[in-house]
Amino acid sequence: MTGGPDPSLAPPLRKALEAAEYTVETVDDLLGERARAALRRHETTPARRRTADGSPLATLARLFVLQLPVGRADADRALPGLVDDLADGGVLLTSADEVRAVLDCRPYSDDRHDWWVVSDLTPGLDGQPLHVGADHVLGVTPASTSLAQLTTRRQVGRALDLGTGCGVQALHLSAHADLVVGTDVNRRALAMAHFNAALDQIRVDLREGSLWAPVADETFDLITTNPPFVISPATGRRLVYRDSGLPGDQVVETIVREAPSHLASGGWCHVVANWAIVADRPWDERLAGWVSDDCDALVVQREVLDPSSYVELWLKDAGRHGGPGYIQAYDEWLRWFDQEGVEGVGFGWVNLRKGGSARELLDHPYAVEQPVATAVQDWADAQHAEVDEGSRLTLRAGVVQETRGDPGAEHPKTIVLRQRRGLCRHRQVDTVEAALAGASDGELTVAQILDALAVLLERDREDLASAYLPQVRSLVREGFLTPT
Ligand SMILES: C[S@@+](CC[C@H](N)C(=O)[O-])C[C@H]1O[C@@H](n2cnc3c(N)ncnc32)[C@H](O)[C@@H]1O
Repeated sequence: MTGGPDPSLAPPLRKALEAAEYTVETVDDLLGERARAALRRHETTPARRRTADGSPLATLARLFVLQLPVGRADADRALPGLVDDLADGGVLLTSADEVRAVLDCRPYSDDRHDWWVVSDLTPGLDGQPLHVGADHVLGVTPASTSLAQLTTRRQVGRALDLGTGCGVQALHLSAHADLVVGTDVNRRALAMAHFNAALDQIRVDLREGSLWAPVADETFDLITTNPPFVISPATGRRLVYRDSGLPGDQVVETIVREAPSHLASGGWCHVVANWAIVADRPWDERLAGWVSDDCDALVVQREVLDPSSYVELWLKDAGRHGGPGYIQAYDEWLRWFDQEGVEGVGFGWVNLRKGGSARELLDHPYAVEQPVATAVQDWADAQHAEVDEGSRLTLRAGVVQETRGDPGAEHPKTIVLRQRRGLCRHRQVDTVEAALAGASDGELTVAQILDALAVLLERDREDLASAYLPQVRSLVREGFLTPT
Protein backbone atom coordinates (compact mmCIF):
# COMPACT_ATOMS: atom_id res chain seq x y z
CA MET A 1 0.00 0.00 0.00
CA THR A 2 1.39 3.43 -0.87
CA GLY A 3 1.08 6.79 0.80
CA GLY A 4 0.52 5.82 4.43
CA PRO A 5 2.76 5.31 7.42
CA ASP A 6 4.82 2.14 7.61
CA PRO A 7 2.67 -0.45 9.49
CA SER A 8 5.78 -1.71 11.32
CA LEU A 9 5.58 1.56 13.30
CA ALA A 10 2.11 0.70 14.57
CA PRO A 11 3.08 -1.57 17.53
CA PRO A 12 5.64 0.84 19.08
CA LEU A 13 3.33 3.80 18.46
CA ARG A 14 0.49 1.96 20.18
CA LYS A 15 2.77 1.26 23.13
CA ALA A 16 3.65 4.95 23.46
CA LEU A 17 0.02 6.08 23.14
CA GLU A 18 -1.02 3.57 25.80
CA ALA A 19 1.81 4.64 28.11
CA ALA A 20 0.74 8.30 27.76
CA GLU A 21 -2.87 7.25 28.45
CA TYR A 22 -3.86 9.12 25.31
CA THR A 23 -7.58 8.19 25.27
CA VAL A 24 -10.82 10.00 24.46
CA GLU A 25 -11.57 10.27 28.15
CA THR A 26 -8.19 11.66 29.25
CA VAL A 27 -7.99 14.12 26.36
CA ASP A 28 -11.56 15.28 27.03
CA ASP A 29 -10.71 15.79 30.70
CA LEU A 30 -7.50 17.60 29.87
CA LEU A 31 -9.21 20.00 27.47
CA GLY A 32 -12.43 20.60 29.37
CA GLU A 33 -15.78 21.44 27.82
CA ARG A 34 -14.99 25.01 26.74
CA ALA A 35 -11.82 24.10 24.83
CA ARG A 36 -13.53 21.09 23.26
CA ALA A 37 -16.38 23.28 22.06
CA ALA A 38 -13.86 25.75 20.60
CA LEU A 39 -12.05 22.92 18.81
CA ARG A 40 -15.35 21.87 17.25
CA ARG A 41 -15.38 25.41 15.81
CA HIS A 42 -11.77 24.83 14.65
CA GLU A 43 -10.34 27.25 17.24
CA THR A 44 -7.34 26.06 19.26
CA THR A 45 -6.65 28.98 21.63
CA PRO A 46 -8.61 27.73 24.67
CA ALA A 47 -7.05 24.27 24.22
CA ARG A 48 -3.52 25.74 24.04
CA ARG A 49 -3.99 27.11 27.53
CA ARG A 50 -4.93 23.66 28.86
CA THR A 51 -2.07 21.71 27.27
CA ALA A 52 1.05 23.65 28.25
CA ASP A 53 2.46 21.41 31.01
CA GLY A 54 4.81 19.33 28.83
CA SER A 55 3.30 16.03 30.02
CA PRO A 56 3.20 13.25 27.41
CA LEU A 57 -0.61 13.50 27.24
CA ALA A 58 -0.57 17.28 26.75
CA THR A 59 2.25 16.98 24.20
CA LEU A 60 0.35 14.41 22.12
CA ALA A 61 -2.78 16.56 22.22
CA ARG A 62 -0.80 19.65 21.13
CA LEU A 63 1.01 17.76 18.41
CA PHE A 64 -1.90 15.95 16.80
CA VAL A 65 -5.16 17.60 17.86
CA LEU A 66 -4.00 21.22 17.92
CA GLN A 67 -1.37 20.78 15.18
CA LEU A 68 1.17 22.81 17.17
CA PRO A 69 4.93 22.38 17.02
CA VAL A 70 6.27 20.88 20.25
CA GLY A 71 9.81 20.91 21.65
CA ARG A 72 11.99 17.96 20.74
CA ALA A 73 12.52 17.02 24.39
CA ASP A 74 8.74 16.97 25.03
CA ALA A 75 8.19 14.90 21.88
CA ASP A 76 10.86 12.42 22.97
CA ARG A 77 9.16 12.06 26.34
CA ALA A 78 5.76 11.45 24.73
CA LEU A 79 7.05 9.14 21.98
CA PRO A 80 10.20 7.61 23.46
CA GLY A 81 12.68 6.46 20.82
CA LEU A 82 10.10 6.90 18.07
CA VAL A 83 10.33 10.49 16.87
CA ASP A 84 12.90 9.90 14.12
CA ASP A 85 11.18 6.72 12.94
CA LEU A 86 7.81 8.48 12.81
CA ALA A 87 9.46 11.32 10.88
CA ASP A 88 10.94 8.80 8.41
CA GLY A 89 7.53 7.10 8.25
CA GLY A 90 5.70 10.29 7.25
CA VAL A 91 3.85 10.89 10.52
CA LEU A 92 6.03 13.68 11.94
CA LEU A 93 8.32 16.42 10.64
CA THR A 94 11.40 17.32 12.68
CA SER A 95 13.55 20.43 12.58
CA ALA A 96 16.48 21.47 14.83
CA ASP A 97 14.56 21.45 18.09
CA GLU A 98 10.92 21.21 17.09
CA VAL A 99 8.57 18.46 16.03
CA ARG A 100 5.32 18.82 14.06
CA ALA A 101 2.63 16.38 12.99
CA VAL A 102 2.20 15.62 9.31
CA LEU A 103 -0.72 13.31 9.98
CA ASP A 104 -3.45 13.38 12.61
CA CYS A 105 -3.45 10.66 15.25
CA ARG A 106 -6.21 10.88 17.82
CA PRO A 107 -8.04 8.62 20.21
CA TYR A 108 -11.46 7.27 19.33
CA SER A 109 -13.73 4.94 21.27
CA ASP A 110 -17.02 3.17 21.62
CA ASP A 111 -18.48 2.03 24.92
CA ARG A 112 -16.15 -1.00 25.03
CA HIS A 113 -12.99 -0.11 23.09
CA ASP A 114 -10.29 2.53 23.01
CA TRP A 115 -8.82 2.98 19.55
CA TRP A 116 -6.59 5.49 17.72
CA VAL A 117 -7.21 6.80 14.24
CA VAL A 118 -4.53 8.18 11.91
CA SER A 119 -5.77 10.38 9.07
CA ASP A 120 -4.82 13.56 7.26
CA LEU A 121 -4.67 16.71 9.37
CA THR A 122 -7.89 18.65 9.89
CA PRO A 123 -7.57 21.62 7.54
CA GLY A 124 -8.34 25.23 8.46
CA LEU A 125 -7.66 25.41 12.20
CA ASP A 126 -7.70 28.98 13.58
CA GLY A 127 -8.90 30.41 10.28
CA GLN A 128 -5.85 29.27 8.33
CA PRO A 129 -6.50 28.93 4.62
CA LEU A 130 -7.92 25.52 3.81
CA HIS A 131 -5.76 23.41 1.56
CA VAL A 132 -7.32 20.06 0.92
CA GLY A 133 -5.57 17.63 -1.41
CA ALA A 134 -7.60 15.67 -3.97
CA ASP A 135 -6.77 12.43 -2.11
CA HIS A 136 -7.29 13.87 1.38
CA VAL A 137 -8.19 11.19 3.92
CA LEU A 138 -10.79 12.34 6.41
CA GLY A 139 -10.61 11.48 10.08
CA VAL A 140 -13.73 10.81 12.11
CA THR A 141 -16.49 13.26 11.07
CA PRO A 142 -20.06 13.84 12.25
CA ALA A 143 -21.24 11.74 9.27
CA SER A 144 -18.94 8.90 10.41
CA THR A 145 -20.35 8.89 13.93
CA SER A 146 -23.89 9.22 12.60
CA LEU A 147 -23.33 6.06 10.52
CA ALA A 148 -21.64 4.26 13.42
CA GLN A 149 -24.70 4.90 15.58
CA LEU A 150 -27.05 3.74 12.84
CA THR A 151 -25.25 0.46 12.21
CA THR A 152 -26.52 -2.68 13.91
CA ARG A 153 -24.12 -4.12 16.48
CA ARG A 154 -25.55 -7.63 16.28
CA GLN A 155 -22.91 -10.32 15.79
CA VAL A 156 -22.58 -11.10 12.07
CA GLY A 157 -20.43 -13.23 9.80
CA ARG A 158 -19.35 -11.02 6.88
CA ALA A 159 -19.39 -7.22 6.99
CA LEU A 160 -18.49 -4.63 4.34
CA ASP A 161 -17.37 -1.03 4.86
CA LEU A 162 -17.77 0.50 1.40
CA GLY A 163 -15.57 3.62 1.06
CA THR A 164 -13.65 2.85 4.22
CA GLY A 165 -11.42 5.96 4.23
CA CYS A 166 -9.22 5.78 7.33
CA GLY A 167 -11.22 2.71 8.41
CA VAL A 168 -13.40 4.11 11.18
CA GLN A 169 -16.45 1.98 10.36
CA ALA A 170 -14.21 -1.07 10.00
CA LEU A 171 -13.06 -0.53 13.58
CA HIS A 172 -16.63 -0.72 14.84
CA LEU A 173 -17.44 -3.68 12.57
CA SER A 174 -14.41 -5.62 13.78
CA ALA A 175 -15.99 -5.78 17.24
CA HIS A 176 -18.97 -7.85 16.03
CA ALA A 177 -18.18 -9.35 12.60
CA ASP A 178 -16.13 -12.47 11.88
CA LEU A 179 -14.78 -10.92 8.67
CA VAL A 180 -14.58 -7.24 7.72
CA VAL A 181 -13.93 -6.13 4.14
CA GLY A 182 -13.07 -2.45 3.55
CA THR A 183 -12.97 -0.93 0.07
CA ASP A 184 -11.89 2.41 -1.32
CA VAL A 185 -10.74 4.01 -4.57
CA ASN A 186 -8.20 6.14 -2.73
CA ARG A 187 -4.91 4.30 -2.19
CA ARG A 188 -3.84 6.74 0.51
CA ALA A 189 -7.06 5.98 2.39
CA LEU A 190 -6.42 2.26 2.12
CA ALA A 191 -2.86 2.77 3.37
CA MET A 192 -4.15 4.70 6.41
CA ALA A 193 -6.83 2.07 7.05
CA HIS A 194 -4.10 -0.57 6.87
CA PHE A 195 -2.00 1.34 9.40
CA ASN A 196 -4.99 1.91 11.69
CA ALA A 197 -5.87 -1.79 11.59
CA ALA A 198 -2.32 -2.57 12.77
CA LEU A 199 -2.44 0.20 15.37
CA ASP A 200 -5.77 -1.03 16.74
CA GLN A 201 -4.93 -4.72 16.40
CA ILE A 202 -7.88 -5.61 14.20
CA ARG A 203 -8.11 -7.54 10.95
CA VAL A 204 -9.60 -5.94 7.83
CA ASP A 205 -9.51 -7.31 4.30
CA LEU A 206 -8.77 -4.07 2.41
CA ARG A 207 -9.46 -3.88 -1.31
CA GLU A 208 -9.00 -1.18 -3.90
CA GLY A 209 -11.79 -0.42 -6.33
CA SER A 210 -14.93 1.55 -7.05
CA LEU A 211 -18.33 0.89 -5.48
CA TRP A 212 -19.28 -2.78 -5.80
CA ALA A 213 -16.41 -3.81 -8.12
CA PRO A 214 -14.10 -5.18 -5.40
CA VAL A 215 -16.89 -7.40 -4.02
CA ALA A 216 -18.60 -8.18 -7.32
CA ASP A 217 -19.88 -11.69 -6.59
CA GLU A 218 -19.97 -11.52 -2.82
CA THR A 219 -22.72 -11.15 -0.27
CA PHE A 220 -22.55 -9.76 3.26
CA ASP A 221 -24.61 -9.91 6.42
CA LEU A 222 -23.95 -6.23 7.03
CA ILE A 223 -22.98 -3.38 4.73
CA THR A 224 -22.24 0.07 6.05
CA THR A 225 -21.32 3.05 3.93
CA ASN A 226 -20.75 6.78 4.21
CA PRO A 227 -20.17 7.35 0.50
CA PRO A 228 -18.83 10.46 -1.24
CA PHE A 229 -22.34 11.87 -1.46
CA VAL A 230 -21.93 15.56 -2.26
CA ILE A 231 -24.40 16.55 -4.99
CA SER A 232 -22.68 18.59 -7.64
CA PRO A 233 -22.44 18.87 -11.42
CA ALA A 234 -19.28 16.68 -11.13
CA THR A 235 -17.35 18.94 -13.47
CA GLY A 236 -14.83 20.67 -11.18
CA ARG A 237 -11.79 19.45 -9.26
CA ARG A 238 -12.72 16.23 -7.47
CA LEU A 239 -12.10 15.75 -3.76
CA VAL A 240 -12.35 12.00 -3.57
CA TYR A 241 -13.59 11.89 0.03
CA ARG A 242 -16.77 13.75 -0.94
CA ASP A 243 -17.14 13.72 -4.74
CA SER A 244 -17.93 10.44 -6.42
CA GLY A 245 -17.32 11.78 -9.92
CA LEU A 246 -20.93 10.94 -10.79
CA PRO A 247 -23.37 13.83 -11.26
CA GLY A 248 -26.22 14.53 -8.87
CA ASP A 249 -27.05 11.81 -6.38
CA GLN A 250 -26.26 8.95 -8.75
CA VAL A 251 -23.68 7.46 -6.41
CA VAL A 252 -26.29 7.07 -3.67
CA GLU A 253 -28.88 5.76 -6.12
CA THR A 254 -26.38 3.19 -7.43
CA ILE A 255 -25.50 2.05 -3.93
CA VAL A 256 -29.13 1.75 -2.83
CA ARG A 257 -30.19 -0.02 -6.03
CA GLU A 258 -27.32 -2.50 -5.99
CA ALA A 259 -26.92 -3.17 -2.27
CA PRO A 260 -29.65 -5.85 -2.12
CA SER A 261 -27.75 -8.09 -4.54
CA HIS A 262 -24.81 -8.00 -2.09
CA LEU A 263 -26.89 -8.75 0.99
CA ALA A 264 -27.35 -12.22 2.41
CA SER A 265 -30.87 -13.11 3.52
CA GLY A 266 -31.75 -11.03 6.60
CA GLY A 267 -28.65 -8.87 6.04
CA TRP A 268 -28.67 -5.13 6.67
CA CYS A 269 -27.29 -2.22 4.67
CA HIS A 270 -26.97 1.20 6.34
CA VAL A 271 -26.18 4.29 4.25
CA VAL A 272 -25.77 7.94 5.25
CA ALA A 273 -26.41 10.12 2.25
CA ASN A 274 -27.57 13.25 0.52
CA TRP A 275 -30.32 13.16 -2.08
CA ALA A 276 -31.70 15.77 -4.43
CA ILE A 277 -35.21 17.04 -3.83
CA VAL A 278 -36.53 17.81 -7.31
CA ALA A 279 -39.43 19.93 -8.44
CA ASP A 280 -42.85 18.32 -8.64
CA ARG A 281 -41.71 15.02 -7.16
CA PRO A 282 -41.97 14.21 -3.46
CA TRP A 283 -38.56 13.13 -2.12
CA ASP A 284 -39.96 9.95 -0.65
CA GLU A 285 -41.57 8.85 -3.90
CA ARG A 286 -38.25 9.32 -5.70
CA LEU A 287 -36.24 7.38 -3.12
CA ALA A 288 -38.85 4.62 -2.89
CA GLY A 289 -38.18 4.04 -6.59
CA TRP A 290 -34.56 3.13 -5.79
CA VAL A 291 -35.42 0.39 -3.30
CA SER A 292 -35.79 -3.13 -4.65
CA ASP A 293 -38.87 -5.21 -3.84
CA ASP A 294 -36.97 -7.81 -1.84
CA CYS A 295 -35.95 -5.50 1.01
CA ASP A 296 -37.52 -3.83 4.00
CA ALA A 297 -36.59 -0.16 3.80
CA LEU A 298 -36.58 2.52 6.47
CA VAL A 299 -35.47 5.82 4.93
CA VAL A 300 -35.26 8.78 7.26
CA GLN A 301 -34.80 12.34 6.05
CA ARG A 302 -33.08 14.17 8.91
CA GLU A 303 -32.42 17.58 7.38
CA VAL A 304 -33.13 19.59 4.25
CA LEU A 305 -30.86 22.35 2.97
CA ASP A 306 -31.83 24.90 0.37
CA PRO A 307 -29.55 24.90 -2.71
CA SER A 308 -27.66 28.10 -1.77
CA SER A 309 -26.83 26.95 1.75
CA TYR A 310 -25.72 23.62 0.33
CA VAL A 311 -23.38 25.14 -2.27
CA GLU A 312 -21.91 27.53 0.32
CA LEU A 313 -21.32 24.67 2.75
CA TRP A 314 -19.35 22.57 0.29
CA LEU A 315 -17.45 25.43 -1.34
CA LYS A 316 -16.34 26.46 2.15
CA ASP A 317 -15.44 22.84 2.95
CA ALA A 318 -13.12 22.91 -0.06
CA GLY A 319 -11.54 26.21 1.05
CA ARG A 320 -12.98 28.11 -1.90
CA HIS A 321 -14.81 30.80 0.11
CA GLY A 322 -13.40 34.22 -0.73
CA GLY A 323 -10.86 32.72 -3.13
CA PRO A 324 -10.49 33.25 -6.86
CA GLY A 325 -13.39 31.87 -8.83
CA TYR A 326 -15.64 31.55 -5.76
CA ILE A 327 -18.54 33.57 -7.20
CA GLN A 328 -18.27 31.83 -10.55
CA ALA A 329 -18.18 28.35 -8.99
CA TYR A 330 -21.14 29.24 -6.76
CA ASP A 331 -23.11 30.57 -9.71
CA GLU A 332 -22.35 27.56 -11.92
CA TRP A 333 -23.37 25.12 -9.20
CA LEU A 334 -26.65 26.99 -8.61
CA ARG A 335 -27.33 27.17 -12.36
CA TRP A 336 -26.85 23.41 -12.58
CA PHE A 337 -29.25 22.89 -9.66
CA ASP A 338 -31.79 25.03 -11.54
CA GLN A 339 -31.31 23.07 -14.77
CA GLU A 340 -31.81 19.80 -12.92
CA GLY A 341 -34.83 21.15 -11.07
CA VAL A 342 -33.14 20.62 -7.70
CA GLU A 343 -35.04 22.60 -5.08
CA GLY A 344 -33.33 21.27 -1.97
CA VAL A 345 -30.97 18.62 -0.70
CA GLY A 346 -31.97 16.04 1.85
CA PHE A 347 -29.58 14.45 4.32
CA GLY A 348 -30.52 11.22 5.96
CA TRP A 349 -30.29 7.50 6.42
CA VAL A 350 -31.21 4.57 4.20
CA ASN A 351 -31.60 1.23 5.98
CA LEU A 352 -32.31 -1.89 3.97
CA ARG A 353 -32.94 -5.40 5.27
CA LYS A 354 -32.92 -8.20 2.73
CA GLY A 355 -35.96 -10.38 2.69
CA GLY A 356 -39.05 -8.27 3.33
CA SER A 357 -40.96 -5.57 1.52
CA ALA A 358 -42.00 -3.19 4.31
CA ARG A 359 -41.46 0.47 3.49
CA GLU A 360 -41.32 3.65 5.50
CA LEU A 361 -39.92 6.93 4.23
CA LEU A 362 -40.04 9.36 7.08
CA ASP A 363 -39.34 13.07 7.40
CA HIS A 364 -37.92 13.16 10.90
CA PRO A 365 -35.72 16.12 11.83
CA TYR A 366 -36.19 15.47 15.56
CA ALA A 367 -33.69 14.24 18.14
CA VAL A 368 -33.52 10.45 18.43
CA GLU A 369 -32.17 8.16 21.13
CA GLN A 370 -28.61 7.13 20.31
CA PRO A 371 -27.38 4.69 19.25
CA VAL A 372 -30.38 4.71 16.94
CA ALA A 373 -29.43 1.28 15.51
CA THR A 374 -31.61 -0.39 18.16
CA ALA A 375 -34.67 1.56 17.02
CA VAL A 376 -33.96 0.61 13.39
CA GLN A 377 -33.83 -3.09 14.31
CA ASP A 378 -37.02 -2.72 16.35
CA TRP A 379 -38.67 -0.99 13.40
CA ALA A 380 -37.97 -3.95 11.13
CA ASP A 381 -39.26 -6.46 13.68
CA ALA A 382 -42.42 -4.40 14.22
CA GLN A 383 -43.21 -4.30 10.48
CA HIS A 384 -43.57 -8.08 10.48
CA ALA A 385 -45.44 -8.48 13.75
CA GLU A 386 -48.80 -10.28 13.44
CA VAL A 387 -51.41 -8.23 15.29
CA ASP A 388 -55.01 -9.36 15.71
CA GLU A 389 -57.66 -9.29 18.39
CA GLY A 390 -55.92 -12.10 20.25
CA SER A 391 -52.65 -10.15 20.56
CA ARG A 392 -51.41 -8.94 23.90
CA LEU A 393 -49.61 -5.64 23.48
CA THR A 394 -47.50 -3.52 25.78
CA LEU A 395 -47.01 0.22 25.72
CA ARG A 396 -43.33 0.81 24.95
CA ALA A 397 -41.18 2.14 27.76
CA GLY A 398 -40.88 5.91 27.60
CA VAL A 399 -44.18 6.60 25.77
CA VAL A 400 -46.02 9.49 27.38
CA GLN A 401 -49.34 11.15 26.67
CA GLU A 402 -49.59 14.91 26.22
CA THR A 403 -52.93 16.67 26.16
CA ARG A 404 -53.78 20.20 25.16
CA GLY A 405 -56.95 22.15 25.49
CA ASP A 406 -58.66 25.08 27.04
CA PRO A 407 -58.13 25.43 30.80
CA GLY A 408 -61.06 23.90 32.69
CA ALA A 409 -62.51 22.19 29.59
CA GLU A 410 -63.94 18.72 30.16
CA HIS A 411 -62.12 17.19 27.16
CA PRO A 412 -58.71 17.99 25.68
CA LYS A 413 -58.57 19.38 22.15
CA THR A 414 -55.61 17.25 21.14
CA ILE A 415 -53.93 14.16 22.54
CA VAL A 416 -50.42 13.28 21.47
CA LEU A 417 -48.52 10.08 22.23
CA ARG A 418 -44.82 10.85 22.42
CA GLN A 419 -41.91 8.41 22.49
CA ARG A 420 -39.03 9.46 24.64
CA ARG A 421 -36.89 6.58 23.41
CA GLY A 422 -35.90 5.06 20.08
CA LEU A 423 -36.91 7.19 17.10
CA CYS A 424 -38.76 9.57 19.46
CA ARG A 425 -41.80 9.83 17.23
CA HIS A 426 -44.99 11.58 18.17
CA ARG A 427 -48.47 10.94 16.92
CA GLN A 428 -51.80 12.66 17.42
CA VAL A 429 -54.44 10.20 18.57
CA ASP A 430 -58.09 10.28 19.56
CA THR A 431 -59.48 9.24 22.92
CA VAL A 432 -60.08 5.63 21.78
CA GLU A 433 -56.51 5.18 20.54
CA ALA A 434 -55.18 6.77 23.71
CA ALA A 435 -57.32 4.43 25.81
CA LEU A 436 -56.22 1.41 23.75
CA ALA A 437 -52.58 2.38 24.21
CA GLY A 438 -53.01 3.08 27.90
CA ALA A 439 -54.76 -0.24 28.58
CA SER A 440 -52.10 -2.27 26.72
CA ASP A 441 -50.42 -3.80 29.74
CA GLY A 442 -49.31 -7.06 28.14
CA GLU A 443 -52.01 -8.98 30.04
CA LEU A 444 -55.24 -7.94 28.34
CA THR A 445 -55.84 -8.98 24.73
CA VAL A 446 -56.80 -6.38 22.14
CA ALA A 447 -60.26 -8.04 22.09
CA GLN A 448 -60.70 -7.59 25.83
CA ILE A 449 -59.73 -3.94 25.61
CA LEU A 450 -62.16 -3.40 22.71
CA ASP A 451 -64.96 -5.12 24.68
CA ALA A 452 -64.42 -2.80 27.61
CA LEU A 453 -64.20 0.31 25.44
CA ALA A 454 -67.39 -0.60 23.53
CA VAL A 455 -69.30 -0.74 26.82
CA LEU A 456 -67.67 2.36 28.26
CA LEU A 457 -68.18 4.49 25.13
CA GLU A 458 -71.53 2.94 24.21
CA ARG A 459 -70.21 2.07 20.75
CA ASP A 460 -70.94 -0.93 18.55
CA ARG A 461 -68.27 -3.52 19.35
CA GLU A 462 -67.68 -4.61 15.72
CA ASP A 463 -67.64 -1.05 14.38
CA LEU A 464 -65.04 -0.19 17.01
CA ALA A 465 -62.92 -3.18 16.02
CA SER A 466 -63.00 -2.44 12.30
CA ALA A 467 -62.21 1.24 12.94
CA TYR A 468 -59.41 0.67 15.44
CA LEU A 469 -57.62 -2.58 14.58
CA PRO A 470 -55.80 -0.79 11.72
CA GLN A 471 -54.81 1.96 14.18
CA VAL A 472 -53.51 -0.60 16.65
CA ARG A 473 -51.40 -2.21 13.90
CA SER A 474 -50.04 1.16 12.95
CA LEU A 475 -49.21 1.94 16.61
CA VAL A 476 -47.23 -1.31 16.63
CA ARG A 477 -45.46 -0.51 13.34
CA GLU A 478 -44.52 2.94 14.64
CA GLY A 479 -43.16 1.51 17.88
CA PHE A 480 -45.74 2.85 20.39
CA LEU A 481 -46.98 -0.64 21.20
CA THR A 482 -45.10 -3.90 21.12
CA PRO A 483 -46.40 -7.49 21.00
CA THR A 484 -45.83 -9.25 24.31
C1 LIG B 1 -17.08 10.43 3.31
S1 LIG B 1 -15.72 9.36 3.22
C2 LIG B 1 -16.15 8.15 4.42
C3 LIG B 1 -14.98 7.56 5.15
C4 LIG B 1 -15.34 6.63 6.31
N1 LIG B 1 -15.98 5.42 5.85
C5 LIG B 1 -16.22 7.31 7.32
O1 LIG B 1 -17.30 6.78 7.62
O2 LIG B 1 -15.85 8.36 7.82
C6 LIG B 1 -16.04 8.55 1.68
C7 LIG B 1 -14.99 7.53 1.28
O3 LIG B 1 -15.39 6.93 0.02
C8 LIG B 1 -14.25 6.81 -0.82
N2 LIG B 1 -14.70 6.76 -2.22
C9 LIG B 1 -14.84 7.78 -3.10
N3 LIG B 1 -15.30 7.31 -4.28
C10 LIG B 1 -15.46 5.98 -4.14
C11 LIG B 1 -15.89 4.94 -4.99
N4 LIG B 1 -16.28 5.19 -6.23
N5 LIG B 1 -15.91 3.67 -4.50
C12 LIG B 1 -15.53 3.40 -3.23
N6 LIG B 1 -15.12 4.34 -2.37
C13 LIG B 1 -15.08 5.61 -2.82
C14 LIG B 1 -13.41 8.03 -0.47
O4 LIG B 1 -12.07 7.83 -0.85
C15 LIG B 1 -13.62 8.12 1.03
O5 LIG B 1 -12.66 7.39 1.72
